[in-house]
Amino acid sequence: MTPEGSLTGSEAALIADLEDTAVAAARAAALACQEWVGRGDEKKADGAATDAMRAVLGEAPGSGTIIIGEGEKDDAPMLFNGETVGSGDSPEYDIAVDPLECTTLCAKGLLGSLATIAMAQSGSMWEPGPAFYMDKLLARAEAGDVIDITDSPEANLERIAEALGKEISELRCVVLDKPRHEELIGRLHAAGAHVSTPSDGDVGGALAVLLPDGDADVLMGIGGTPEGVMTACAAKALGGSMQGRLAPQKDDEKQALEGTDLDRVLELDDMVGGDAFFVATGVTGGLVAAPRREAEWYVTESMVVAAGSVKRVIAHTPVDDEATDGGTH
Ligand code: FBP
Repeated sequence: MTPEGSLTGSEAALIADLEDTAVAAARAAALACQEWVGRGDEKKADGAATDAMRAVLGEAPGSGTIIIGEGEKDDAPMLFNGETVGSGDSPEYDIAVDPLECTTLCAKGLLGSLATIAMAQSGSMWEPGPAFYMDKLLARAEAGDVIDITDSPEANLERIAEALGKEISELRCVVLDKPRHEELIGRLHAAGAHVSTPSDGDVGGALAVLLPDGDADVLMGIGGTPEGVMTACAAKALGGSMQGRLAPQKDDEKQALEGTDLDRVLELDDMVGGDAFFVATGVTGGLVAAPRREAEWYVTESMVVAAGSVKRVIAHTPVDDEATDGGTH
């Protein structure tokens, strides 16, 4: 997880192994929850994805520590925070998982659900502890230096527009459609920006900002801390920038964070300090295609964001062996 140019052959091979493992884990999760797409049962869908991801990670090379696990926020099945997975040898690395990002979209059979995983240098991922929600601000790479989460949305729009050589009226923002964002969305509209407001999925929204061919300029608003760390890994891999700030929403979360500095601005390096990569496999389609069946194969699409680039991995998995690592072509 260092820039590719400075790697020795064996380090490069190890990173390739970890990437393959991450893709296999995300693919297994995406396939396992297909049975639950559009069946109205978020927990069953999440559980199937988590179990499948856990099985693949058990066979991982090296020693991975789950920093961002699954479940506390939703009382869902777990890949426990602090759990170690893998063969137990070196290298050591950190793992963030969200085996089913956008469980509701999956349960409703709507576009936008992803199986996601990120890995980073050991000790470099932020552990949000009892913090479930955070405010996030991301802009396209050319405007990475001008974002300031402590400033007003209007002032950020102005600076981002200038950095991108656009008018504010040309900016495309993504903000989750939540009651807590009513005022923010109104202010962005009043400033003249386009605002897309998905019901769920700020990882997908962030990817639309971070990817070179993404169709958004800015992501603003409050979402999950696990999704924040996941997003930070993608931003880190692409050399982008991102800011965050804790934004507790629930009473018990507020209580647990008493005494914590809620004004502290988290820069990208605070959220992931070392090299990192991010993988998402499509579950219900949208940014990354949903699995489809071709004769005796399931065909999956995964997006691998690593070492400054984005690649799409199409894999064929035998229908009778969903959790195995089918050949890629
Ligand atoms: P889940 O799959 O955990 O439901 O996450 C979906 C999501 O929309 C995330 O993308 C986002 O960060 C978070 O939920 C926001 O949380 P909430 O829906 O509780 O406001």
